[in-house]
Amino acid sequence: MILPIYLYGQPVLKKVAEDITPEYPELKQLIENMFETMYNAEGIGLAAPQIGLAIRLVVIDLDPLSEDYPEYKDFRGVYINAHIVETSEETNSAEEGCLSLPGIHEKVTRPARIRVQYLDENFVEHDEWVEGFLARAMQHEFDHLEGKVFSDRISPLRRQMNKSRLNNLARGNVNCAYKVKRALR
Ligand code: NI
Repeated sequence: MILPIYLYGQPVLKKVAEDITPEYPELKQLIENMFETMYNAEGIGLAAPQIGLAIRLVVIDLDPLSEDYPEYKDFRGVYINAHIVETSEETNSAEEGCLSLPGIHEKVTRPARIRVQYLDENFVEHDEWVEGFLARAMQHEFDHLEGKVFSDRISPLRRQMNKSRLNNLARGNVNCAYKVKRALR
């Protein structure tokens, strides 16, 4: 089932998300719905707050990048109760977009490598260092779990440049090709 994607200005995107247990109701269905919602909107990552739930659940599918990055062929991940516990000093910059901020794309500087702890869809624990595009995708998505969006991480100048777009989003004044929940004025 395709769920509406909550847009910038919706309060849930500013909440710190909470851990869940395997007993979380209809979790398998929810994960499936999140993938379907993400594919429908042509995204490569989606965090639960973006569908209105302040829980620590993220789905990522990097297969659309596999033409440029063959290592991501069929790469699909589910991240539950994810936390970044260490980051490299080395950083890099790349352009990002977000299904909750349609029409905005900006370069974001982030640590090149991160150590993450999470549970997969079978609630198996993982503790690993991640690099490359996956590290960026995870940081973007895990930011959503901390109540942050990527526009919080761009320079004041670039934020100023996007001010009218952000204000329009926050006022619910936006058109979108996929199903959304606009901000309430
Ligand atoms: Ni996002």
